[in-house]
Amino acid sequence: MAIVCKSQAEIEKMRRSGHIVRQILDELRRLVAPGVTTMDLEKAAAAKIKELGAKPAFKGYYGYPCVLCTSVNEEIVHGIPSPKRVLKAGDIVSIDCGVVLDGYYGDAAITVAVGDSVSPERQKLMEVTEQSLYKAIEQVKLGNTISDIGGAVQEFVEANGFSVVREFVGHGIGTKLHEEPQVPNFRSRGAETRLREGMVLAIEPMVNTGGPEARVLEDKWTAITADGGSSAHFEHCVAVTRNGPLILTQ
Ligand code: MF3
Ligand code: CO
Repeated sequence: MAIVCKSQAEIEKMRRSGHIVRQILDELRRLVAPGVTTMDLEKAAAAKIKELGAKPAFKGYYGYPCVLCTSVNEEIVHGIPSPKRVLKAGDIVSIDCGVVLDGYYGDAAITVAVGDSVSPERQKLMEVTEQSLYKAIEQVKLGNTISDIGGAVQEFVEANGFSVVREFVGHGIGTKLHEEPQVPNFRSRGAETRLREGMVLAIEPMVNTGGPEARVLEDKWTAITADGGSSAHFEHCVAVTRNGPLILTQ
């Protein structure tokens, strides 16, 4: 499996799919409120994907049933939207969305507070996780390695007293949702690959208030923190250019 570098024209296409994902996440952020179910978010996303002329990337992927992943509180990633999951004030919900347009994928995630009574710890968790994504993006430049990206996430997150999930990692993206290379959110000896012009990376820190350990529920998808601590997740697709990082999911 080799890393596929993208031409400028391909990166332009990925910018279009990335922009669609961003528009969807912006709409969903506005919908999040106490009393809304994660299935309400799913339905709004499915309608918006259609309206914008794209196709969902996650639905059917290894049998995944929905267009979104919605992961609440101690859920780290891959929570499945449900009409029974009613968001309540004080919750945090991570919303992950992927689409494909004209053969090219876009993938991004945000974590949103439900109501305005989220605990200071959860508030800080969301801020640190989002900031760690931007620390990672700063490392996306020629001469650096994949490990520098994860190193920046890990250093920032641990300095703030939180932990980085190891079981799930970011990834290359292009004409497939998941391409080489893996992009861990921690420094890793196996990730000394040098960044090259045209690589496109989905960088997606998953950060826990407690320990880093995860476990997967009986639904075979939902990953939760082993210790019940809260978890947040932010994701952008970023192209490596000679002028530094280019965020495609804006
Ligand atoms: N953003 C996640 C990822 O890139 C979402 C995948 S959900 C799946 O791995 F259903 F498509 F697996
Ligand atoms: Co992803």
